[in-house]
Amino acid sequence: MTGSFVVFEGIEGCGKTTQLQRTCDWLRSRVRGSVVVTREPGGTELGRQLRTVLLEVREGEPIGDRAELLLYAADRAQHVERSIKPQLASGAIVLCDRYTDSTVAYQGYGRQLNRELIDRLNHIATGGLEPDLTLWLDVEPEIGLDRARKRGEANRLEREALDFHRRVRQGYAALAQQYPHRIVRIDGRRSPDEVEKKVQQILTERLSLKLSGLELPPTWMRDTGDNG
Ligand code: TMP
Repeated sequence: MTGSFVVFEGIEGCGKTTQLQRTCDWLRSRVRGSVVVTREPGGTELGRQLRTVLLEVREGEPIGDRAELLLYAADRAQHVERSIKPQLASGAIVLCDRYTDSTVAYQGYGRQLNRELIDRLNHIATGGLEPDLTLWLDVEPEIGLDRARKRGEANRLEREALDFHRRVRQGYAALAQQYPHRIVRIDGRRSPDEVEKKVQQILTERLSLKLSGLELPPTWMRDTGDNG
């Protein structure tokens, strides 16, 4: 793989989707190569159908926890094979809204499904492809859910009880401890402009590290004539 794979994670209303878009605009003005934005669930045609199934509020039969886990895994398997791997192989920077950590946090900690099972499934779905960097935007569930509610109608997961979202956040905290080399926590309570600056600072450090590791050609960075 020659590109860079950067994932944004966090609970509902943490601000990751806004930051992902801002980061994309910022990177596009600075690098020669292509910068792509994608998400889970829903990064492929099949994924978009699965996203509807997963997030719509259902009147009748509820989705079981294991079925939910497998649907997220199916979305991811298709996404990695059809979209993420080919993009990375062509040298792109792939910015992804959620990835395997979401399954550990939501299905593992939120639904309390077996962690070993989740790790195995994540491995099957990704073929072992891990992000180069994961930016975890951390906010308290009270703040995040309030922001999400102001955005409009709550989806199936946003409707879960506060305790569920507290466990999800604990899941992210545990993951950040387990993978300190990959996951960077950012205080998501800060203003969007402050978070954006922090993201840019981390990416500048991390992407230039990768550049010096010769995984990306030096010509890949545009000469913008400034320090950013
Ligand atoms: P969002 O990407 O718009 O935030 O919505 C996706 C929802 O799906 C969100 O509530 C988190 C949830 N989710 C899981 O429960 N497990 C997963 O593996 C992924 C990718 C998302």
